Amino acid sequence: METEFQDGKAEVIEAWYMDDSQEDQRLPHHREPKEFIPLEKLSELGIVSWRLYPDNWENDENLNKIREARNYSYMDICDVCPEKLPKYETKIKNFFEEHLHTDEEIRYCLEGSGYFDVRDQNDQWIRVAVKKGGMIVLPAGMYHRFTLDSNNYIKVLPES
Ligand code: LAC
Ligand code: NI
Repeated sequence: METEFQDGKAEVIEAWYMDDSQEDQRLPHHREPKEFIPLEKLSELGIVSWRLYPDNWENDENLNKIREARNYSYMDICDVCPEKLPKYETKIKNFFEEHLHTDEEIRYCLEGSGYFDVRDQNDQWIRVAVKKGGMIVLPAGMYHRFTLDSNNYIKVLPES
């Protein structure tokens, strides 16, 4: 399943090494010069990802195939904006605190975009930018954090 639905993935998922400035977390934080990371490197870190087309996600056979192959039974819609996410400010803050989960973190971006930051083998921060159509799985136990980007909106489908 990891090798399916890869066409066009680079249009919606990009990764780069972050600088260490303390500026606004929603900025891209590229290094100077930019250091993009090939998506294969993310696979080496255990991150699985796919490219889907979410306009009609409720009836997407490809999404169903992934969910069946990986035994996902639960899903939810998380609209990250002040009007729709209860305790928005607190959550935004907590998302950006480095943390890990005992289960995978599975996120399918239905609309908008955001940054999932993870660390490489040498503890360097990698910023994984995910846009509409990108679906990623961070392995259980991987340190990470999340922030909106300067577009300030994401609608995701968490799965488990
Ligand atoms: C979470 C993400 C945002 O834990 O890391 O929900
Ligand atoms: Ni998390």
